[in-house]
Amino acid sequence: MKKQSIIRGRFKKEMDEKASVFSASHSFDRKLLPFDIAGSKAHAKMLHKIGLLKKGECDKILKGLNQVQSEIQGGRFPFHDSLEDIHMHVEARLIELTGEAGKKLHTGRSRNDQVATDFRLYCRKAAQELVLLLEKLNKTLLEQAIKHESVFMPGYTHLQQAQVIRAGQHFLAYLNMFERDRSRLMNACERMDELPLGSGALAGTGLGNDRNFLAKELGFSKVTDNSLDAVSDRDFALELLFCIAMTGLHLSRYCEDLIIWFSSEFDAVTIDSSFCTGSSLMPQKSNPDMAELIRGKSGRFTGNLVRLCTTIKALPLSYNRDLQEDKEPVFDSVEEIKKCLEVFTAMLATVSIKKDLLSRQKNDYMLATDLAEYLVKKGIPFRKAHEVTGKLVQYAIQKKKKLSELHLTDYHKFSSQFDSGIYKILDLTRSPDGKNTFGGTSIKEVRRQILKWEKLFKKRHL
Ligand code: ARG
Repeated sequence: MKKQSIIRGRFKKEMDEKASVFSASHSFDRKLLPFDIAGSKAHAKMLHKIGLLKKGECDKILKGLNQVQSEIQGGRFPFHDSLEDIHMHVEARLIELTGEAGKKLHTGRSRNDQVATDFRLYCRKAAQELVLLLEKLNKTLLEQAIKHESVFMPGYTHLQQAQVIRAGQHFLAYLNMFERDRSRLMNACERMDELPLGSGALAGTGLGNDRNFLAKELGFSKVTDNSLDAVSDRDFALELLFCIAMTGLHLSRYCEDLIIWFSSEFDAVTIDSSFCTGSSLMPQKSNPDMAELIRGKSGRFTGNLVRLCTTIKALPLSYNRDLQEDKEPVFDSVEEIKKCLEVFTAMLATVSIKKDLLSRQKNDYMLATDLAEYLVKKGIPFRKAHEVTGKLVQYAIQKKKKLSELHLTDYHKFSSQFDSGIYKILDLTRSPDGKNTFGGTSIKEVRRQILKWEKLFKKRHL
C-alpha cells in the first residue's frame, strides 16, 4: 500500500514513481532515528514552553515519539518512498498515533534545520566514540613502547637501513600521530557544538522559538549565529571526514610497516596467528590480511572526504537537496574507521619486535654517521668528515669487512684523527644512546617520552 505524502498540498498529482524512488533517503538516513527523536522531543518541549503546545499535547507527542522509535527499531516498520526520509516517517507515524497533537509538532521547524541538527548530533557522537577508540589505541601504543623500550632495530629512510633506533621510539612515533588525531577530533567537536534548530527553512521563524532552551535540551553549548549558514553548513561533516581520513592514513602507514616487517625477508616482527589468514592454495602461508585490509580502507576514507567536498563545492546558499548526499560518505567512514581502530588495536597488542635484529646484521654500516660525528668532535668540518667516512665505508665493502673489523691502520689511511677510541662507538647497540638530543632515540629520551605520556594518560584516567 502506498502512503500519501503529507507535504503535497500545492500539487494536484502525486510524485512520479521513478522520481519518488530516486529521491527517497530513508534507506540510509534511518540511522539518524535516535537523533531525530531527541530533536523532536526537545522541539515539542520548547513549543510547550513558548505556549504553542498545551501540556497534554506535548505529553502525547513525547509518548508518541517513544512509540515511533520502538516501532522503527523493532524492524517491522513499513517504510514508503513517498515519505522520502526518516524525518517524514517519524512525523507521519506520530500523526497517525496522536492525531491533532502530532500535526502541531512541525510548528516553527523545517526539515532543513531539523536534518542539520540531527546530523550534527550524529557527528558529535561519532567523534566522541572515535576519541575513545583512539585513546585505547594510544594506551596500547604506550604499553608496547614500554615493553620494547630496550629492543633495538634498524631505523629506515628510503626503506634503506639508516641508523639504529630503539623499537620503543617507533611505537612512540605513532603515538604522537594518533594523539594529534585525537586532539583534531576534539577540536572539530568544539566547532560542531552549535545548535542549528530554530533557523527554520533558511530565515528563522516568526513564532519566537526559544533556541537557547533547545540548545540546553540537546546538550549544545551555543546556538548558531546565522540562519542561512546554519541550514547550509556542512563543515562539521567535512571536518569529521578529514579527521577520519587522516587517522586512516596513519593506520595505513603503520600497517605498511608491519606488512614489510612481517615478510620473511625482514622477519622482524611477530603478529599473533589469530590476526593472520591462510592461503586457499599454499598451505605454508600466514598472511597479514588485517593490516592489508586496513591499509586498503584508507582509500575509501580519502574518497569519502573528496566526495563530500565535491558535492558542497558549488552549492548556492542556502539549503539544496544535493545536501542529502552528505550522509552516506560520513556513515561509511565512521563505521569503517571504528572497525579499523578496533581490529588494529587488538592486533597491535599482540605485536612483538624480534630481539635479535641487530645480531643478525651482516654489517655495521648504520654506524657511519656515528663515525663522522666522531671526527666532527675532533674538530673536522662535517662535510670533510662525511667524505672521509663515505670512503671508509666503500673500503670496508670492498674488503667485505664490518667497520668494527677494520684495523686502526686501515682507519689512518683515511684520517690521522682516528684513534682507538673509535672501537667504543663501533657497536650497534650503543649507537642509539648517543642520540640524546631532545626527542632522540636514546634511552634517556625514550624514557622521558614514556613518562610524559604516562602522566598525561593518568590525568585522563586511562
Ligand atoms: N532528506 C533531506 C536531506 O537529507 C531532508 C531535508 C529536506 N529538505 C528539503 N527542503 N527538501 O537533506
